[in-house]
Amino acid sequence: MTTPLVIGNWKMNLLTAPACELAKSLVDQLADVSGVDVVIAPPFTSLYPVGQIIKSSRLCLAGQNFYYESNGAYTGEVALEMLKDVGCDYSLIGHSERRCLFGESDEGVNKKVHHAIDLGITPVVCVGETLEQRNAGATLATIETQLSIGLADLSQEEKPRLVIAYEPVWAIGTGVNATPEQVIEIHKFIRKYLVERLGFSEEVGVRILYGGSVNSENSEQLLREKEIDGALVGGASLNLESFCAIINSAIEI
Ligand code: PGA
Repeated sequence: MTTPLVIGNWKMNLLTAPACELAKSLVDQLADVSGVDVVIAPPFTSLYPVGQIIKSSRLCLAGQNFYYESNGAYTGEVALEMLKDVGCDYSLIGHSERRCLFGESDEGVNKKVHHAIDLGITPVVCVGETLEQRNAGATLATIETQLSIGLADLSQEEKPRLVIAYEPVWAIGTGVNATPEQVIEIHKFIRKYLVERLGFSEEVGVRILYGGSVNSENSEQLLREKEIDGALVGGASLNLESFCAIINSAIEI
């Protein structure tokens, strides 16, 4: 059985003091919780202090993005080595806000996935269709392209290290979540694609998360589905009670 995974993506929110306060409260609230992996992805400026607060707890730290070179003249970028240095074990890669607002490509995603695996960081690769693509019947083709290029050339040893987050762009930050049926259809498609087209073994158990307007009201309905291995949570992860409620609903009863 795969352990569910819940990731809080704080995006470009919270100054250092409130970020540290939220991290401290999460450590307290989750001290007795087991049966779920919990990861938080604060903005870069809070990674170090938040990492210090959570380091002996069950919470793990993630970056929201990085550049795939190790160092050099790349003004304004952050290397994955730097994320690792401040305690990150995970990083999001190819979030739709990176793709839509900052022009990130599937080829760039692929470079980042390889770099993360080389450094022992778990890549959380985000895929998902826009509303236009869904309305045009291009959902599966879109995800297929994102997977085939984004996950190209992984060795058998590298494959189990991945996490995939299905995040339909139309559901992110809109308050309109995908229904469990819609999510299940895509998660099954992704799993089948990984096995049949990308050569993953069925036993590998890559975790596939759902993200897009997950909140404390809809999390139970989504996370009780065995096809949904956890959640990538944006807005609701900034609120202690909501995020803890979502985490609780991910735990298998
Ligand atoms: P949301 O964001 O939960 O605010 O919709 C999810 C995400 O972007 O990861």
